[in-house]
Amino acid sequence: MSITVNYNNMMTYALGERGISDAQLKEHEILAQSAHFQVEAGRGRGMQGWMDSPYDQAEVVKTIKATASRIKKKFDNFVVLGIGGSALGPIAVFTALKHYYYNELPKKLRKGPRFYVVDNVDPDRLNALFDVINVEKTVFNVITKSGATSETMSQYLIIIDMLKQKLGDKAREHIIATTSENKGNLIKLAQQEGFETFTIPGRVGGRFSELSPVGLLPAAVVGIDISRMLKGARDMDRKCRSRYISKNPALALATLQYISMKQGKNISVMMPYADSLKYIADWYAQLWAESLGKEVDKHGNIVNAGQTPVKALGVTDQHSQVQLYNEGPYDKVITFIEVGSFRSDIVIPEGCEDFPDVHFLCGHTLSELMTNELHATRYNLTRRGRANYTICLDAIDAYHIGGLLYLLQMQTAYTGAMLNIDTYNQPGVEGGKDAAYALFGRQGYEDKAEEMRSFKADSEKYII
Ligand code: PA5
Repeated sequence: MSITVNYNNMMTYALGERGISDAQLKEHEILAQSAHFQVEAGRGRGMQGWMDSPYDQAEVVKTIKATASRIKKKFDNFVVLGIGGSALGPIAVFTALKHYYYNELPKKLRKGPRFYVVDNVDPDRLNALFDVINVEKTVFNVITKSGATSETMSQYLIIIDMLKQKLGDKAREHIIATTSENKGNLIKLAQQEGFETFTIPGRVGGRFSELSPVGLLPAAVVGIDISRMLKGARDMDRKCRSRYISKNPALALATLQYISMKQGKNISVMMPYADSLKYIADWYAQLWAESLGKEVDKHGNIVNAGQTPVKALGVTDQHSQVQLYNEGPYDKVITFIEVGSFRSDIVIPEGCEDFPDVHFLCGHTLSELMTNELHATRYNLTRRGRANYTICLDAIDAYHIGGLLYLLQMQTAYTGAMLNIDTYNQPGVEGGKDAAYALFGRQGYEDKAEEMRSFKADSEKYII
């Protein structure tokens, strides 16, 4: 596994008094070991089924590959309908591993259907999609674990209606349902309509589901080697078996983030230096925010835990947010993602000989420029006492992406255990869902509707 974690720039060694000392790390060793113990004890149990995902999917992987190859032959477009944990993983992995302009490539080079993820209910966006796809040549993968999410089910209703009008009974061949085995509406509809179905294991929650059929089917359809992704996750899992901070990269990062939160660093910035990894930061933002942002701990004490995730992109955001990172409050931990080698490169040609301020670039490559800019930004931040660490991937391929996702999931699980919170629930999200049901007058939400009506009458005073 060639993913390394470099946390020198979190330590007093590099940051001086704003850093974390070896003694502080040692003080947290017991807490880290107990978090490790807790996570290991829960492996495959409760909502930790995601820890089995790298190991127990041989059969489903075979079916996914067979389905993917049928889709590739038969369809021009593959559309994921889902939201949150049912969409961010497929987006992140597709963007990380496929050609930057995949959908624009000719079919011969693409070797698979065009790929879209519709993770919102903005009518303009869905209508825009209908402008560029022929639904008769499209397969829709409806992904919802609960089978009840309003956004996804609305999309489903629109699509199935459209398909039935155009194709009658054949509509069912255009829908694949990825959902719970026996809970929620989608599985019932799938059985009734005869859709092909993939199961999201009960013990795997939305934001931890990318390495389940949620992410594996979309990835396989666009030609990503899902067996390599799972192998990367397995190898990372082995790296995370040690209970010692110095030997377990996810445990080290969790402990550093935990101490940082105690120091008042309540913002976690993820800044990959590769466009292809931009949406890994999006996926991580959900994982980190929804897992750790909790009002109460496991004993019911009010803790208001969590760190606000911020998504940034190197080098683009050097020209915007980095000013704040350097000179604003000391309330951030920055996670850089560095790439050992890009999939391709471009040499900056000779030119501008009379302009030394430009000419110094000539003969260098764009990947060198990316890397040097990362090192320069990191140096500058560190010199100013700004906490940062770097996750370095040797390459951007299925193996390393599987390993990276698993590393970040482990880091989140350990951090949640250290905070003594329920990492796997999301009452704050459910609250919003319930309020939306009430607004629509859904049966069973009458009390909620009443509560909302009496909460505070809209005041004219604060509207201008
Ligand atoms: O992580 C989570 O559990 C959530 O973000 C869900 O993935 C999201 O709310 C969508 O839920 P579902 O897959 O049930 O439609």
